[in-house]
This record gives sequence, structure tokens and C-alpha cells, in this order.
Amino acid sequence: MSKEQRPGTVYWIDHYVVPVSDIARWSDFYTNALGAKPQVREARPDRPAGGGGGGGLLFTYVGECHVGGAKAEGLTPGTGSPRYSWFIRPEEVELHLRRLDAHQIAHSGAIRTSDEGEPGTAIRFADPDGNQLALWAPARLPDGAMANETTAKVGRIAGALLEARDLGKTADFYSTYCGVDPLPSGDVERDTVVFPLAAGGRLAFKKVDSLGNRTAGHAVYRALHQALVIRDEDFLPALEHMYRDLPEWDHDPSAIGTVSVDESASLPARTGIHGNPIGPEWKKAFGRGDSFYDWDENTFHFVNANPKQGSSMATYESVSQRTYVDQRLAARG
Ligand SMILES: [Fe+2]
Repeated sequence: MSKEQRPGTVYWIDHYVVPVSDIARWSDFYTNALGAKPQVREARPDRPAGGGGGGGLLFTYVGECHVGGAKAEGLTPGTGSPRYSWFIRPEEVELHLRRLDAHQIAHSGAIRTSDEGEPGTAIRFADPDGNQLALWAPARLPDGAMANETTAKVGRIAGALLEARDLGKTADFYSTYCGVDPLPSGDVERDTVVFPLAAGGRLAFKKVDSLGNRTAGHAVYRALHQALVIRDEDFLPALEHMYRDLPEWDHDPSAIGTVSVDESASLPARTGIHGNPIGPEWKKAFGRGDSFYDWDENTFHFVNANPKQGSSMATYESVSQRTYVDQRLAARG
């Protein structure tokens, strides 16, 4: 059976949310660095910031993907993780270096690497709040990587590098619940586990002894997560698989600071409510949350989607979760 046929397989990373201290500055940075187009300039009133601060969450669009900047008061320095990378073409590396220089964005220069199991060229940099980023030009771009590229010639999300304390547990978790298998350890940098996703890009985990604040999911900063694309027909079965195996976290995502970093770090892999407006409705309909946490507080939800053309998930159209909520409530009568 090919990876594409494994039920519940994750195909891409759809979006992510990072903590930011100044939303307008962050959004301008994404426009300059990646050619992003902000959806709206105003903070969203339905997503007030946690930590007692005002503000909210802004999404900006980069190619087919989007990124959220969640206003965070008292943001402490990051640890180098998470790091999110974006697809670029190998023949355009110089162009990207010149653009970053023109906007006075400090960067690593072009680094030839195969640390995460695939040869290519990376340019590493960080946003104004120290959230780590990279442009990634693999030797071979997957189909769909550059779909709807930005005016700066940046494609979709190429990967997330996250933290994990026990790589064995991590390998087991993603193989069980996300339908992906780790690359052989000899192919990747030491203390790293890498899961190539079925359509393109990868999830990678670096072994750490303790988790940084920006890894610690909803416990410290509001709304941080990654969203993973799965086929619409796999959406409910994948969640039900977790509902059978994993406990539910009765946590209100709007109540920040109720769990310390140390407390949250000792919690098991679990499901829980998602910090977006449909989260409470989903939980009401299904009795469980639509998000999940691995053993290291990395927080996710699925984006259920159908192929745009034929059966290939190279490009996809997401399906509203509301469809399922409505069906569920209608079935109950
Ligand atoms: Fe999301």
C-alpha cells in the first residue's frame, strides 16, 4: 500500500500560529520576507489575546497557506523551536537572499544541508519576535509546493521543526495517529526524527531535555498550533481513533495561565478544544475537542480537505468542520 492510501495520512502542513508582541510589525515582516498578504489589518474581536493583554490574532496569506500571529504579552525569548520553513525553487535562492538583504533581515546565507533527510538549500532567519523561519529549496520540489506562490516567489509550508523529549514516543504517536512513518535514523541528523508528509513537506522533531515556552501549546501563549491536512473521508475516523485511545483535556483555550509550563509538560498526549470559534461547538456536538496534543505539548488540529483535481492532494480544497457539527446535531434530533 502506498503512503497516499494509508487511512488518516497527513499530506501537508496547512497553517500555523506563532506568538507575536506587535501584530502590525509581524505582518509587515511576513509581507517583506515572504510576500505575504494580510487578510485583515484589524485584530479579530472574536479572538481576544490571552495573558491579560488586548489585541488578537491576525492571519496573513503566503501562497496556499496562511499563518497566524497571536498577540502575546510578555513574550520571552524562544529556544530555536518551532522552526517553520517555506518552499522556494533551487534556482531562485540568490533572488531570496537579495530580498532578505534589501529588507535588512538577518539570515544564515545559503546552507547546503540534508540534516532532515533530504538534500537541498536552506536560508534561515527569524521574525522580529525570534520565531524561527527558513526558506527551503529541496533538490526536487513536490507537486503543489509552489501552487499560488507569492509575488516574492515563495510557495507553501515546507516543514515544521518541533521539540520532543522522547523520540521513540514521538515516532509511535505520529505513526499511529497521523499515518506517517519516520525516515531511518541514519538518514537524518542525530537526535532528530523526521516524518515526510504524503504530498510534500515534513514534520521534524529535535530531541530536547525540556520544552521551550513556545512549544508549550495553549499553556503559555494563546492559540499556538500547527494544522495538518488529511483527506476529508479520513477526518472523523482519525479523530475517533484518538477519542478511543487518548484522554480529553478539559481546558478552556481562552483561560491562559491556568497551567504552568511544568504542569503542562507532564500531561499525556490528549485531545482538547481548539482555540478557534468552532471549537466549543465541536465539543458540544461530539463531546470531545477537535485538537490534539502530542507527548510534548505540540498542538495540532486537522484540516479536512478534498483534492482540487483528480485524486492527487497536491492541491486541495478544505471542507468546513461545521458540516460535521450540523450533521451530528441533526442526527441527534
Ligand atoms: Fe488552525
